[in-house]
Amino acid sequence: MSAKPRVVTRHVLRPGHAVASGSALPPGWRIARATPALAGELAALHLAAMPDDLLPRLGLSLLARHFWPRLLISPYCDTWILLDAERRLAGFCVMACQRLPLRLGFYADAAFCAAMLARLLCRPLILLHSLTVLAAPLRLQKPIGQVPAELVLLAMREDSRGQGGGQILLQHALRELGPVACLVKTASADASRFYQRAGFVCCGRELRNNRSLHLLVRRWSTLPSA
Ligand SMILES: CC(C)(COP(=O)(O)OP(=O)(O)OC[C@H]1O[C@@H](n2cnc3c(N)ncnc32)[C@H](O)[C@@H]1OP(=O)(O)O)[C@@H](O)C(=O)NCCC(=O)NCCS
Repeated sequence: MSAKPRVVTRHVLRPGHAVASGSALPPGWRIARATPALAGELAALHLAAMPDDLLPRLGLSLLARHFWPRLLISPYCDTWILLDAERRLAGFCVMACQRLPLRLGFYADAAFCAAMLARLLCRPLILLHSLTVLAAPLRLQKPIGQVPAELVLLAMREDSRGQGGGQILLQHALRELGPVACLVKTASADASRFYQRAGFVCCGRELRNNRSLHLLVRRWSTLPSA
């Protein structure tokens, strides 16, 4: 089987501060690259872990049949998974190496758009919410400048949280991304502190549907080697 083409970003940054990792995965846990065969499992975990986001609110079938299969073959992102000692999916992290082409790729997919539209038309409030999500990348360019990469999704299964797995998975994804600036958006103050531990710094707020999102950017990349 041929390997997925990698898009190499041109935005190489200055070297900067190191980020301490300090901890190890629980025994038997391991990190791997996700394969398209995992779309269903990833969709179920996505829905369980992030019920407040737009995509989960549109339903499991959209996630499992349209969103994840497309994401897992996109050349613009990498999906890393954490497997526990029983080989069960404990968490995932999606890192877009070029965030705008990744998003545009979804909207160029007729099947994805038709599935989104069909669901959105019966949910006017979610339709409104999705329009603000679509406009967000355009608004972002001014305050924080050009940030090619974005941590799109990060979630751990509820019973696997608090053991350091999320932080190690995040640092693995950042190391694999390489020395490029990376953006993350979160509504949670806890998550904001979690990202700061991995070297992200707060760079502003974005208002979406009366929710204030923290914008964090990690501009320098010298994580300790694995
Ligand atoms: C955020 C998340 C991936 C962290 O995974 P984890 O394996 O529990 O992370 P670690 O064990 O490495 O670190 C735990 C730390 O994350 C913090 N944290 C960040 N976001 C959190 C959240 N939504 N729920 C619970 N704890 C969270 C905890 O407060 C804890 O901090 P502490 O060590 O100072 O007490 C996980 O909590 C999760 O999946 N949350 C739901 C989805 C989510 O919020 N994703 C990020 C939104 S952008």
